[in-house]
Amino acid sequence: MAIERTFSIIKPDAVAKNHIGAIYNRFESAGLKIIASKMVHLSKEQAEGFYAEHSARPFFGALVSFMTSGPVMVQVLEGENAVVANREIMGATNPAEAARGTLRADYAASIDENAVHGSDAVESAAREIAYFFSADEVCPRTR
Ligand code: TYD
Ligand code: MG
Repeated sequence: MAIERTFSIIKPDAVAKNHIGAIYNRFESAGLKIIASKMVHLSKEQAEGFYAEHSARPFFGALVSFMTSGPVMVQVLEGENAVVANREIMGATNPAEAARGTLRADYAASIDENAVHGSDAVESAAREIAYFFSADEVCPRTR
């Protein structure tokens, strides 16, 4: 399996509920390494740009409003098969359909406030990482 990078957001709902440490623990317990991290309060323009692929969807306005409602944690995760591994840790988009023990089953209240974001492919991960982090903010592990 390949060592990959993926991009993750702890969304405003989970930050507000003080779940940052619990969620980081899930990543690290699964063997994913946090190689970049920061807290940001997204502007409307940043949130719209990040979710541009969903701009025609009926939930877009509510999604942007939610994502700008408070600070988020953005991070780069590195590890074997990191993109799919993180999606498995997260669980389904709708927490009502998320498997037991996943982040969304445990921390999300609804499909529109669902605690975490994770890239869906290696290509989108690269784009999303570059959207938030400059190269010198990403710190690959040498040990
Ligand atoms: P999507 O990329 O389909 O889900 P995921 O986050 O699992 O990759 O959608 C992006 C976000 O848009 C999703 O996390 C929450 C929001 N959303 C809604 O609010 N309602 C919806 O019906 C869908 C599909 C998504
Ligand atoms: Mg998605």
